[in-house]
Amino acid sequence: MSNTPPVHPDASQQPRGDVLADDPSYAPRQSGAESAASGAAGETLLRVENMHLHYRTQRGVVRAVDGISFEMKRNEALVVLGESGCGKTSLTKALLRTLPRNVAHFSGKVTLAGEEISELSEEQFRRTVRWSRISMVMQAAMNALNPVVRVGEQVAEPLRVHNGWSREKSRERAAEVFHLVGLPADFLNRYPFELSGGMRQRAVLAMALVTDPLLVILDEPTSALDVLTQANIMNVLKRIKREMGTSFILITHDVATSSELADRVALMYAGQIVEDSPAQHYFTDPAHPYTKLLMASVPRLREVVEPEHIPGQPPSLLELPEGCRFADRCPSRHERCGANPELQSLPDNRKARCWLFTEEAQST
Ligand SMILES: Nc1ncnc2c1ncn2[C@@H]1O[C@H](COP(=O)(O)OP(=O)(O)OP(=O)(O)O)[C@@H](O)[C@H]1O
Ligand code: SF4
Ligand SMILES: [Mg+2]
Repeated sequence: MSNTPPVHPDASQQPRGDVLADDPSYAPRQSGAESAASGAAGETLLRVENMHLHYRTQRGVVRAVDGISFEMKRNEALVVLGESGCGKTSLTKALLRTLPRNVAHFSGKVTLAGEEISELSEEQFRRTVRWSRISMVMQAAMNALNPVVRVGEQVAEPLRVHNGWSREKSRERAAEVFHLVGLPADFLNRYPFELSGGMRQRAVLAMALVTDPLLVILDEPTSALDVLTQANIMNVLKRIKREMGTSFILITHDVATSSELADRVALMYAGQIVEDSPAQHYFTDPAHPYTKLLMASVPRLREVVEPEHIPGQPPSLLELPEGCRFADRCPSRHERCGANPELQSLPDNRKARCWLFTEEAQST
């Protein structure tokens, strides 16, 4: 395994082209209420314990989120990686309680900034959590902007709906956030079709930031964009994190892009987290056999190493095996793998779900 983290091809470049360059004159807003910047970096911001979200379908129950636990600190960027269909978007739905009608089972304890928000009624959650303290850029959100409403109106909407602000005050704040994400203020008057893909993605990011949330969840925010625009958006996120103290959960299957922002990485497989490690360990010294194979499958710019292919398919979430869910594809499987291991705590603030890391295995 190589020691060089994957690097985005254009990671060092500043935003350019159709948007404002990152503006060093920007001064972060001082908010009186609990804002992203209040509370010390390093404090626990979010703790998720044993979260489940299962769907009812004609073919049976889909266990999309199946016992997920993790925690993240303030001002941290947690990247949730995983193959298509492993349950990443379902995890965001569970965190924001934006559930479809066919839920078969939904449970789990969620604590945000010391408050157990899973105990809140739906009305309390809507008023005090969703879009105010936790906001989100949904998968493919830039294509979901209302085509007949000016983007400025759409960005200001959460302030009018959730904070009850006047049209004028909301618009002023929208202009401030446009500046923050690198869009000129006169773009507030444009319709979505008058913006490029990168600009629309910045507009939906502005919408998620407009209420100055503690945590922004971004579901595949750059997957529909070209590599230069992807790098520009990642630079905007890095700057917002640094200047506003915002915490991010970035959901993606793109290892190279995620390495730009990640402080921690949680790798999902078949509805569960299989490794949860600080980014420097995850990218340079992966622990779980799946992480090792996944990292070896990423093409590297600075080394002449052929990317490897991971054979096989993940199991169906309708019919999960009793044993380790990665066993069919794992080169290290052994007799014990007929039972599904728990997520084990390891040195260096790491966790892995694999029998290779149990205490007995470590001591032999
Ligand atoms: N409302 C639903 N009803 C039934 N099954 C669903 C529903 N939503 C998602 N699923 C299934 O749950 C599983 C996880 O879906 P999810 O969208 O969470 O995956 P994902 O990791 O976000 O995938 P991608 O990377 O492709 O976006 C998939 O098998 C999907 O088909
Ligand atoms: S528990 Fe066994 S099959 Fe699963 S990842 Fe570890 S070694 Fe491989
Ligand atoms: Mg998804």
